[in-house]
Amino acid sequence: MVEISTSILSVIKGEESKTFFGLEKAKTDYFHIDVMDGKFVKKNTYNKMLEYASYIKRISNLPLDVHLMIEDIDKGIEDFLAVEPNIITFHYEACKDKEEVMNHIKKIKENNCKVGLSIKPETNIEEIYEFLPYIHMCLVMTVEPGKGGQTLLTEMVDKISKLKKYIAENNVEIDIEADGGINLKTADAVKDAGANILVAGTAILMANDYKVIIDELRKK
Ligand code: DX5
Ligand code: ZN
Repeated sequence: MVEISTSILSVIKGEESKTFFGLEKAKTDYFHIDVMDGKFVKKNTYNKMLEYASYIKRISNLPLDVHLMIEDIDKGIEDFLAVEPNIITFHYEACKDKEEVMNHIKKIKENNCKVGLSIKPETNIEEIYEFLPYIHMCLVMTVEPGKGGQTLLTEMVDKISKLKKYIAENNVEIDIEADGGINLKTADAVKDAGANILVAGTAILMANDYKVIIDELRKK
């Protein structure tokens, strides 16, 4: 079953509550909270995303899928645990060594939150195989992290297939989330490759009827 996680990164200022209520009505499976610190990526959405996540938490029971694109992962975990997300995902490339990756995984899990590990397009999938038994989800970036509205990098479809093959052959039970440039034209290739959670921002937020596009993107 494919799930849809709607990125709120590109929500129009002043239309936040209308958008969030609309997404709840359209039954998005998750709200995807794109947290950026202006260091790991150029944009800084940190405080805005914390505010939005707190607001969504108050008005909706739908789960939060927090995507930390930040260098100070400890701070991000602390701050975003407060909004009781379903999952917190951090970037492999923001960690100085394996020990740091394992420490973040442990800290998130100790706080009864699921944990995801994300990799940028230029990172080889093999680099994170050793962490798969300890996480709930691998977030494969299908664009360069840092902004919405980009075009999906088609070579990332092969990366998803490779990951899917590895987890099938090694009995690993994790979700594969694809994030960036997902729309009605690119969704099928990503789903066929093995992604079972699709993040979409622009494709959904620009639609007149969120439910139509979310249902379409879910279709297997
Ligand atoms: C990019 C973010 C993505 C992005 C998705 O750094 O992680 O979640 O907002 O937006 P679209 O669907 O517009 O590519
Ligand atoms: Zn994201």
